[in-house]
Amino acid sequence: MPTRRRVMTYGALLAGGAPLAGCDDGDVQQATALLQRRLALPGSVDGHERLRALVHAATLAPSSHNTQCWRFVLGRDSIRIEPDFTRRCPAVDPDDHHLFVSLGCATENLVLAALAHGLQAEPQVGRDGRIEVALAPTRPQLATRYAAIPQRQTTRGPFDGHPLPAATWRQLEDAAAGNGVNTHLVSDTAGLERLLDAVAAGHRAQFSDAAFVDELVQWLRFDADEAAASGDGLFVGCSGRPSLPPWLARRLVRRFLGARAETDLAAEQLRSSAGVLILASDAAAGPAGWVGVGRAFQRLALEATAAGLQLSLLNPPVEVAALRAPFAAAFGLGTLRPDLVVRIGRGERLPDSLRRPPAAVLA
Ligand SMILES: Cc1cc2nc3c(=O)[nH]c(=O)nc-3n(C[C@H](O)[C@H](O)[C@H](O)COP(=O)(O)O)c2cc1C
Repeated sequence: MPTRRRVMTYGALLAGGAPLAGCDDGDVQQATALLQRRLALPGSVDGHERLRALVHAATLAPSSHNTQCWRFVLGRDSIRIEPDFTRRCPAVDPDDHHLFVSLGCATENLVLAALAHGLQAEPQVGRDGRIEVALAPTRPQLATRYAAIPQRQTTRGPFDGHPLPAATWRQLEDAAAGNGVNTHLVSDTAGLERLLDAVAAGHRAQFSDAAFVDELVQWLRFDADEAAASGDGLFVGCSGRPSLPPWLARRLVRRFLGARAETDLAAEQLRSSAGVLILASDAAAGPAGWVGVGRAFQRLALEATAAGLQLSLLNPPVEVAALRAPFAAAFGLGTLRPDLVVRIGRGERLPDSLRRPPAAVLA
């Protein structure tokens, strides 16, 4: 049963809607997430409100550890997307690769939302990774990928183990094409087992690093109240794990978090996936190139979502710098930098993650 405090908190959040007595933490989180994901109807907003609607759609993008590491600056006919370095994760992402990939994901959402609202968006990415998006009037177009923005989620549960037709893989690879990004498909059993070995090596390196574990725990949200209070971070229910009172969970979590447990989970995830797409790009690309990787990944994620597929990421082997070169060699990527490891298949949805409101990310 929810506590009285929880019922009141979420009653307030739902702006006087039906009381949530009887809901478990996952239900409460999902009710909040659904409300947060309601996009403004194209044509229903204009001027400043229309730009805010684009920012709202952008904030529904994925970000590493759900840090939402972005700021938006509204102009008259433009929006600037900037990194929020106060939300960087120096342990898992020392070179800010994931931070700029996350900005790219937000950029892609913003471009799709602009088109739906009758604006042609032209993003220019500076060498420092800041993105200036010029907006000009055009005929409104509702793309399938735009409609998929509220549905897209990172689904960390098991998938159904069925393969996907070659035509579907082509469709997904086509969606990711562009922005200097290469895709590499791994769908055979031996390849997936080699991937699992690489993920296991990544977990061993990361979970033996106290700074990595401290940072991860800092971004974990142990119940729906905690997730709603911050509007960011990794709610345990989004990984199919049970909620616990945060004071207790913070005492216990380090006993349960570890390379072996994470690799067991990854084994279940990989062995039930239809396959994995590795995204790789020019090793010298830097922030501007990483924004491009994010745009490509978000196109892939939205295309998959629109096709009724689920996906999640298994990035440890590309996050540990020393493992990147052996990983690239093992999967024939040559001198490219492996950016993201994306597992794809059909599976059940889990609760959606939360976001901070647009007002919190407008500079
Ligand atoms: C650059 C980047 C790296 C990520 N790496 C991982 C990862 O290694 N493992 C994982 O489970 N999720 C990963 N994620 C997914 C985020 O945790 C997820 O996007 C965030 O929690 C918000 O949830 P949502 O995608 O369901 O909206 C990554 C996301 C991004 C953008």
